[in-house]
Amino acid sequence: MATMSHDKIISELSLNEKKVLLTLGKLHGEADPKKVFEIGDFQQQVEVMNAAAWLQSKKLVIVEEIIKKVYALGKEGESFLKKGLPEKRALKKIIECGGKATLQSLNSVLDRSEIPVAIGWLKQKHWATISKENNETIFTVTDEGTSRINKQTNDEKLLQMLKENPDATIDTKEHKLLLSRKNVIKEKEIVTGTIKLTPLGYELLQTGIAIEKEISQITTKIIKDGIWKNISIRPYDVNTFAPKTFGGKYHPLNLLITRIRQIFLEMGFSEIKGNFVESCFWNMDALFIPQDHPAREMQDTLYCKNPSTINIEDDELIEKVALVHESGGMTSSDGWGYRFNKDEGKKALLRTHTTVNTIKYLYNHPTPPAKIFSIEQVFRNENIDSTHLPVFYQIEGIVHDEHATFEQLIGLLFEFYKRMGFEKIRFRPGYFPYTEPSMEVEVMWNGKWMELGGSGMFRPEVTEPIGIKTPVLAWGLGLERLAMLKFDITDMRELYQSDFKWLHNQKLF
Ligand code: PHE
Repeated sequence: MATMSHDKIISELSLNEKKVLLTLGKLHGEADPKKVFEIGDFQQQVEVMNAAAWLQSKKLVIVEEIIKKVYALGKEGESFLKKGLPEKRALKKIIECGGKATLQSLNSVLDRSEIPVAIGWLKQKHWATISKENNETIFTVTDEGTSRINKQTNDEKLLQMLKENPDATIDTKEHKLLLSRKNVIKEKEIVTGTIKLTPLGYELLQTGIAIEKEISQITTKIIKDGIWKNISIRPYDVNTFAPKTFGGKYHPLNLLITRIRQIFLEMGFSEIKGNFVESCFWNMDALFIPQDHPAREMQDTLYCKNPSTINIEDDELIEKVALVHESGGMTSSDGWGYRFNKDEGKKALLRTHTTVNTIKYLYNHPTPPAKIFSIEQVFRNENIDSTHLPVFYQIEGIVHDEHATFEQLIGLLFEFYKRMGFEKIRFRPGYFPYTEPSMEVEVMWNGKWMELGGSGMFRPEVTEPIGIKTPVLAWGLGLERLAMLKFDITDMRELYQSDFKWLHNQKLF
């Protein structure tokens, strides 16, 4: 008996789906797609596969893949079939020689490389015995060997069969020995499928599925001419299953960077970009980092071999920076009180912070006001662990303004993190050679304060040599640390692995 729900399911079947069901009914409920195609009056085989996939989603059929191992002749197999198996040729020769032959005499029927193969299989198949007579190797045919000479052996039968029916299935146990020989028989896997009716599919068939002409596409003609009154129209089901598609997506870090960029742009900043390879002068000297600072050592900074040096064009600037380092120069500072080494500044390195971007920007654009940011990678000679990477991003920026104040710096960073979704942040006094006052930014995460970056106002020792007298607010924040908080992961390395398990249940912006 047809129930309401059966009627509903049937009414939602497409013509091809009905045809597949009916064809399966004829084929005892199960068949491979090719068979269904042949029997079922389809135009193309894909129609069968598509309909089967839909029927599967409606739980009316099960589509199964069957992986079958098939066999064909390999290179050696083909040559064996032409020339005969090496052991068979040897056997023939031995019998020709009267049942006893020397190793020497086999040379006429076998290639050099085939001789050990032939000997091995003569013994294995018990076709001949091997002995030594007068220092010569002698083969003597056995009864077994004699009985084989005019008969096609199992091995030969198989080779012949595979020649006639490539990609055949074979009894692998029976042909174990031949299969073990190199390049004689090739094994291949082929995937075939079957479509099988489910109990529900059977029930539907029993209630009777009628193939009637039905319209699945309505045209203006159908409406205008009133044809619609007399035809059956396939109902449209908006809740029906659709295959999942997995399109490409942005990397979560890229999404984060885009969001950060947007925040700074909204706050009126402009983005700048810099270089990976920089001089020590711009990365360190110009920032009043003393030349004996531990961060300059090879253990922390990656110096370049090629180029190993970068020339600084502005000699006057180098003089000013040297003077500031030595004695404070035109500022009221005493400097570091050591002899500045100009060559040190020429060393090429992979930038260790993006503060090099901003100091170079200020040198080239000394007139305020300016609001600048960059989100770029920096390099440090770090050991990798859950919170350290040798290559990581910094979110760097400056406000250069006559009226800029330290409070504004606090307010600005507060605002940035607030827009990023962090309410609880605090500032602690910090130290950087190039800022005074300096502070560190910390964010509350899982009940702990986590350090996210440094900031401060550039010291006169930094701004004076490049001709700047107005205040500059500066900050450099870690991106990956922020990402860890945002994505709730405890190991930074996960950001750079392709397996984004941690992304599950994450809402990205
Ligand atoms: N350059 C500092 C770092 O790499 C961050 C910083 C930038 C601090 C600007 C103060 C001012 O940690």
